[in-house]
Amino acid sequence: MRVRPATLDDAEAIERIRVETWRATYRGLLPDGLIDGLRENPDGRRERLRAQPADQFSFVAEDAGQVVAFAVGGRERSGDPAHRGEVYAIYVLPAHQGKGLGRALIRQSAHELATRGLDSLLIWVLRENTIGRRFYERLGGRAIREKPLEEFPGAADHIEIAYGWSDTSPLR
Ligand SMILES: CC(C)(COP(=O)(O)OP(=O)(O)OC[C@H]1O[C@@H](n2cnc3c(N)ncnc32)[C@H](O)[C@@H]1OP(=O)(O)O)[C@@H](O)C(=O)NCCC(=O)NCCS
Repeated sequence: MRVRPATLDDAEAIERIRVETWRATYRGLLPDGLIDGLRENPDGRRERLRAQPADQFSFVAEDAGQVVAFAVGGRERSGDPAHRGEVYAIYVLPAHQGKGLGRALIRQSAHELATRGLDSLLIWVLRENTIGRRFYERLGGRAIREKPLEEFPGAADHIEIAYGWSDTSPLR
């Protein structure tokens, strides 16, 4: 297993991981229309990687030389003074879950944030995503706030929970 910064050449793999994992995770939890409407967007991803702000990062994780997971993060987006870094997204392909890749990506993200002076962390997860919630609880995160899922019109009756680490040193 290897974690490394994403390059422009990883755009296709990242998009495949995002869509396949999102569908597998949220089918039955979110409306079918949202699940079926999701599309890979490698050009958009490549552009986002190319224009990635200096205070953000994208990591990929390889398993047997294949890119099978990724994480994206940066500064916390709402101005929470107690949680200054954020992991915006983390996805591990279903066939590669439970092998430590998620933990390794969180560790690398926490390390990267700390090098920028951000040693606290927040991550949002859908309330119904029990696997994701157990993962964050296992890593020592505490549920600290809730909000309606704003990303998708038509899913605003779903709730997201923020998990927080006021000090990421145990994660690193
Ligand atoms: C949540 C996710 C990132 C975890 O990544 P992973 O590589 O499967 O997790 P790891 O193998 O690193 O596991 C780390 C810890 O989490 C716990 N964990 C992981 N998957 C679990 C599961 N299905 N049920 C219970 N606990 C689980 C394990 O106990 C493990 O601790 P341990 O090593 O001490 O036993 C991955 O399952 C995923 O991408 N899920 C779909 C997308 C998603 O939900 N993203 C997060 C919310 S935005």
